[in-house]
This record gives sequence, C-alpha cells and structure tokens, in this order.
Amino acid sequence: MSKYGGFQVKENIGDEFQRATKYYLESLSGKSLDWTKMPEPFKKYRAASTIPLPNPQAETLPLAECLKKRKSVREFVQKPISKEQLSFLLWAQNGMREAKRGFIFRTAPSAGGLYPIETYVQVNDVEGIHAGIYHYNVIGHQMEEIVTGDFRREISYACLEQEMCGKAQAVVAWSAIFGRSKWKYKDRAYRYIYLDAGHIAQNLALAAVSIGLATCQIGAFFDDEVNKIFCLDGIEESVIYLSTVGHPP
Ligand SMILES: Cc1cc2nc3c(=O)[nH]c(=O)nc-3n(C[C@H](O)[C@H](O)[C@H](O)COP(=O)(O)O)c2cc1C
Repeated sequence: MSKYGGFQVKENIGDEFQRATKYYLESLSGKSLDWTKMPEPFKKYRAASTIPLPNPQAETLPLAECLKKRKSVREFVQKPISKEQLSFLLWAQNGMREAKRGFIFRTAPSAGGLYPIETYVQVNDVEGIHAGIYHYNVIGHQMEEIVTGDFRREISYACLEQEMCGKAQAVVAWSAIFGRSKWKYKDRAYRYIYLDAGHIAQNLALAAVSIGLATCQIGAFFDDEVNKIFCLDGIEESVIYLSTVGHPP
C-alpha cells in the first residue's frame, strides 16, 4: 500500500481488476434488467448559454488516405480553426447518427448502447467562439458554455506540462459517467468505458486528418487538476482521455 492524494493506493490493482471482472459461465446472473431505471445517456447543462454549431458537413479525404496520414502531432501552426471544422469534428467523434426504436445511435459504437462518454472542449482559438470550457450537447449539436477564459496554462500543467495543449487550437476532453454503464455491467463496465473512449478518440483523429487538421491523444494527466478545469467531481464523472486538435505544421 502507498498513500497518494490522501488515499491508500493498493499496488497491483490492475491485475486484480482484470481477474475480478472476467466473465464466467456461472457468474452470469441471467437476471433481467429494470429498463425503467436505465440512466439517461445525454447530459445537458440546462442553465448554460448555448452556441449552435453549423451542419456537420465537410469535404473529406478518402479513408485510406486518412489512415496513412494519421499520426500524433504535437506542434501546431498558430491560426484559428473554423466553427465549421469544430462542428464536423464534434459530430464525427461521437455525434448523433440515427434515431431508431426510441434510441439514439452515435457515430461511435458503445457497449450496450449506454453511451457513458461525454465530450468537452477547451476552446483556445476557434473563429467566432470565445476561449473557454464547453460541453458538447449531442442531441442539439451545440456547445454549452461552462466558463469562458484562457485555460492554456492550466491545461498544459494538468497534462503533465505537455505544452502542445497550449499550442493546439482546441483540446477535447472525454469524461465517463460511470453509472451509465455500471447500471448494466457492474464493475465490468470499466473495461467497456475505456474501450468506448478509444473508438471515439480514433473517430476524432481520423476526422481531423480528413479535413487537414491533426491530433494527439493524451492519457498522461493529473486527474484531479483536469477535472477541476472541466468542472467535474471526478467521482460520478471523471475525465479519462483527452486529445489536442489543431493545424499541423
Ligand atoms: C491511450 C494513449 C495515450 C496517449 N497519451 C499520450 C500523451 O499523454 N502524450 C503524448 O504526447 N502522446 C500520447 N499518446 C500518443 C502516442 O505516443 C502515439 O500514438 C504513439 O507514439 C504512436 O505514434 P503515432 O500516433 O504517431 O502513430 C497516447 C496514445 C494513446 C493511444
């Protein structure tokens, strides 16, 4: 046991987690779910000012070219990205795809269709949008303003002094609302939540390349500091992954 941030931290917890969340034939309960208790898969900041985003359309490169060109970029040319580009990226990463049988499906797959991942954007330099912290409202395809201001210094520090966070035109942060998946999958949900986030991040990476932009994924960050920037409690909802977005050199 070690102690960090006021908590006892158990060593080798990863191995234990992997073992404890295995499925065995006898561990599958076969109990049916109470669908009336299914958590709402959309977060909405009801009191927030909203910024509508244009239709998410773009001229894109062919998929094979995007796959060949995608790479982690950590330097960015200093000029704004457009609201149209941001709109396309937010839709492409995990926006609404179709509504069917009372469910709304997204551009990325999600275990059980529970969509535990929420998307936030730190705007550093986007035409027509003040610098600040925003939540992406999937249903309305709009941004909800959480707080305006220049957070480049804070985000770089919170991501272990990774300066690319201050150089990028935007930083996307993906949080998990753990309860959405735990409702069905209990502790195994954590496996699925991280897999969901990977799909979403790759959608963003390829979509960015398809319109001439670039990304770099970020898994190295101080959790508490990042959650503070995005105004999250870190318990019910916590940032689990981020990505820079901007103009490549
Ligand atoms: C889960 C994950 C976390 C990552 N975290 C960081 C990070 O914190 N900082 C960074 O510079 N790159 C990060 N990367 C990018 C990798 O370093 C990069 O993908 C790898 O070196 C391969 O290079 P490529 O992306 O150009 O193909 C991360 C990638 C993944 C998939």
